[in-house]
Amino acid sequence: MAENLKGFKRTNYANDFDASSIGQTVSVAGWVNKQRDIGSLVFIDLRDRTGLVQIVFDETINVELLNKAKGVHNEYVIAVKGTVRQRSGAFNKNIKTGEIEIVAEELRVLSVSEPTPFVIASDVEANDQIKLKYRYLDLRRPEMQKNIIMRHKIAKIARDYYDENGFLEIETPYLTKSTPEGARDYLVPSRVHPEKFYALPQSPQLYKQLLMLSGFDRYIQIARCFRDEDLRADRQPEFTQIDLEMSFVEMDDVIAMNEGFLKRVFKEVLDMDIQTPFMRMDYKEAMERYGSDKPDNRFGLELIDLSDEVKDVEFSVFQNALTNGGSVKCINGEGMGAKLSRKEIDALGELVKTYGGKGLAYIVVNEEGVKSPIAKFMTDEQMQKVLQKANAKAGDIVLIVADKTDVVYTVLGSLRCDLAKKFNLYDENSFSFLWVVNFPLLEFDEEENRYVAKHHPFTAPMDEDLDKLETAPGEVRAKAYDIVLNGNEIGGGSIRIFDTKLQEKMFGVLGFTKEAAQERFGFLIDAFRFGPPPHGGMAYGLDRLCMLMAGCDSIRDVIAFPKVQNASELMTNAPDVVDEKQLTDLNIVCVKPEKED
Ligand code: AMO
Ligand code: AMP
Repeated sequence: MAENLKGFKRTNYANDFDASSIGQTVSVAGWVNKQRDIGSLVFIDLRDRTGLVQIVFDETINVELLNKAKGVHNEYVIAVKGTVRQRSGAFNKNIKTGEIEIVAEELRVLSVSEPTPFVIASDVEANDQIKLKYRYLDLRRPEMQKNIIMRHKIAKIARDYYDENGFLEIETPYLTKSTPEGARDYLVPSRVHPEKFYALPQSPQLYKQLLMLSGFDRYIQIARCFRDEDLRADRQPEFTQIDLEMSFVEMDDVIAMNEGFLKRVFKEVLDMDIQTPFMRMDYKEAMERYGSDKPDNRFGLELIDLSDEVKDVEFSVFQNALTNGGSVKCINGEGMGAKLSRKEIDALGELVKTYGGKGLAYIVVNEEGVKSPIAKFMTDEQMQKVLQKANAKAGDIVLIVADKTDVVYTVLGSLRCDLAKKFNLYDENSFSFLWVVNFPLLEFDEEENRYVAKHHPFTAPMDEDLDKLETAPGEVRAKAYDIVLNGNEIGGGSIRIFDTKLQEKMFGVLGFTKEAAQERFGFLIDAFRFGPPPHGGMAYGLDRLCMLMAGCDSIRDVIAFPKVQNASELMTNAPDVVDEKQLTDLNIVCVKPEKED
């Protein structure tokens, strides 16, 4: 039978103690991390969210209590009163309380536990699926507790920092209207309005702009966002933004405000001084040098264009790419040619296929000459030109991709990160920030055969490029900025259009008829007739920021109850079927999907 808490008052957390606590009478409560029974003594490591403390039950002090402690097992919940003393055995240098122990005078067993599906105290990695099914147990692990507590701190500092700078936290709806553009929406059927749906917001974008129009001037919200897109390590179907908007500002004002935030959060959470202002890089430069609009610039391995050098090489792959308007580019893996085995090089060839590439040509350079499957297509002179352009010397490997230019960027941009990781080209604990600026306003969507907004349809074009909006839309740059940390886009934003005429023009360029724009964005178009202030803002991916600050590889590790790759939650089994009655109320009839082959 479990005992109750009556009259017990916890005085401390487990991690509160060190040598200076010796002699104090204290009360702690938590979970049994480990119990060791050595006959005349029982040791229990008690765990709470702060850490571990050793409790000792001693035959020579209280036999009855010792016997009670013998019946206590892992993950039982106990409350203990006792006196802190110096450890009788060897100190444990790995924990803060390693010099002391609490000699128990009272023990209450508040709750028992069945054996857990994986041992919480153990470092042995349990299977991911099991951990997620029993997420509440996984969350007991110290690393997870550390991550979740860090996330709390980051959110708290965000609220404090923006509050001190005059921002107001204002909530915006979760049941809202589906608007086109962006990712696929999550829809919620309306019971009251048959055949009509709310959409869960992909971000509070339109509402925060309307709040500027209402005069709130500076807004912040830690907002949940919902996007039905393919999931990856840095993408969840619901995620959290630190979302903000400011009136009467230009790009530099927004950037400076946010550099202040990042400086503060890194100082207070990690005790790191980060240098501001951060470097800014043009989108075009980021793509050309790093093959990515979120470049990791902690290492080199920059892209080098070979289109000129190989234009006469009679290798169909190169020729096809070039004649179809694509390109041939490479990276020089300095020193890696001497280290990579043939098998490893072949594996890189397979890897590029997962990035959408068709293959990887390579040239290994050594003292005797070159080894390359494409050497047979090249004259000595052509080979020399390529090596010279790539700045390749003995020991290096030149890795070449020919394809449509955006494919070349994706493949080499990803490959350089993989190689840098494999060859330890950067310090895992360093942080490199950079703003990517001068994004194109629009990009051409082949499938839809029209221009779509690269950021969103409310982003303002650069003043200098305004005259090209209708004549050369692809060349117009946006007043948009992304903040990149170690190759991850941790946030992004823009200065918005506040001129109704320009907004109408923008909708036109995006292919909306006046009626279509009115139907979808009518409330915004209407609102902007009533004096919108100039405004702009941005949003951080809080999950991504936490992931990087906590040194994790996936945002799952900083979300208490995340979803898996197929967007389900293993613990609750969501999504799940619902009662027929619920469907009837909503006027919904489910149609079985056609079987896929
Ligand atoms: P954007 O779409 O760039 O901008 O989103 C802002 C930031 O949110 C993070 N993010 C995600 N994190 C986890 N899972 C996802 N599925 C996911 N999608 C995005 C990224 C990204 O940088 N309304 C604009 C902001 C603005 O203009 O003010 C917006 O939502 O870190
Ligand atoms: P194949 O003609 O397919 O046998 O390819 C000959 C060599 O070219 C192999 O090393 C391929 O990996 C490489 N290769 C194939 N497609 C590409 C490409 N798009 N870019 C660069 N190299 C490629």
